[in-house]
Amino acid sequence: MKRPLAYIAGTGHAVPKQVVTNADIAAMGVDTNDQWIIERTGIRQRHIAKHGETLASLSAEASRQAMARAGVQAGEIDVIILGTATPDHLLPSTAVEIQTLLGCTRAAAFDVAAACSGWLYAAIVGESLIASGSADTVLVIGAEMLSTIVDWTDRNTCILFADGAGATVLRRSRDRTAAKGVLSSFMRSDGALTELLWRPAGGAAEPFSPEVFEQKRQYVRMAGREVFKHAVRSMAEATDRALDAAKITAADVDLLIPHQANVRIIEATAKHAGISMDKVFVNVDRFGNTSAASIPIALNDAVEQGRVREGTTVLFAAFGAGFTWGSLVARF
Ligand code: UT7
Repeated sequence: MKRPLAYIAGTGHAVPKQVVTNADIAAMGVDTNDQWIIERTGIRQRHIAKHGETLASLSAEASRQAMARAGVQAGEIDVIILGTATPDHLLPSTAVEIQTLLGCTRAAAFDVAAACSGWLYAAIVGESLIASGSADTVLVIGAEMLSTIVDWTDRNTCILFADGAGATVLRRSRDRTAAKGVLSSFMRSDGALTELLWRPAGGAAEPFSPEVFEQKRQYVRMAGREVFKHAVRSMAEATDRALDAAKITAADVDLLIPHQANVRIIEATAKHAGISMDKVFVNVDRFGNTSAASIPIALNDAVEQGRVREGTTVLFAAFGAGFTWGSLVARF
């Protein structure tokens, strides 16, 4: 096992005030029902942004909490990395807007596009910047406003995706004997099956136009069943690879915090890894699938519930559009 160079010093999360239940979605005229959504996804409710709540404002709120818990001042942040698929603006990055809201005047800030693996990819980049000596303190955020790119008449997607932000502060380990920190990580991508989960228009290849809006090509499209199969396979690979790299086994893991895509994918991942469900953190029931935000929201939720404490070994695993997938083992 390598000596950890960076550790997660603080966590925070923020979600929109508005709670939307499964019954609320059915009441909007979507052909679905509470029982189907709970059985097939595990979701009971989610938070959906209303006017005034932006990706940057939620991210800043989550970040302030993480920075306070880490005991880090705005001027100490070297780099801000935001994993998101739903930036507030296409230009510039939302990370620079967050930088301004937080007053992190000496930081470099940029977004990472890795869909639901966004926080995980951003955390690995952050750890690498610390390992290379480029940074000491990195604010790593995962945040989404998926409600803005979902077709609210498409029952394949609108029951699943939601809004929220999670933040973590990564710091250089000063204690050379410290056992806490990032023990291993793994990341992979495969662009061959992009169209199973994508947002066809709105980018440079197909800018917004009356035809785009007519055909609803500005919204996210997902072949749910296909994506499901790839998610289960890739999350299984991810858990194996991070455990191998950390030279530990599933028995050494105190808590698995997977991307909160769907409780059935989470159960399949845990089963493959040989981790019992009492050691798996699930909050998809309350927050839905918040893509890049789901792992840092779940981590902060787990911290607040006392399930992540000093000495806890956590295995993170993610999968998302691209496809992208990855994993990370950290000891707290
Ligand atoms: O975040 C990372 C990337 N995303 C994911 O990992 C999501 C992966 N996919 C999924 O989570 C699941 O595929 C869904 C939750 C999207 C769908 O669940 P499923 O068990 O794969 O359902 P299905 O698409 O195979 O549909 C089963 C049945 C179909 O009816 P028939 O053909 O059996 O009569 C659908 O038409 O359920 C029907 N159905 C619905 N019924 C009520 C599909 N969506 C709904 C719905 N409400 N919202």
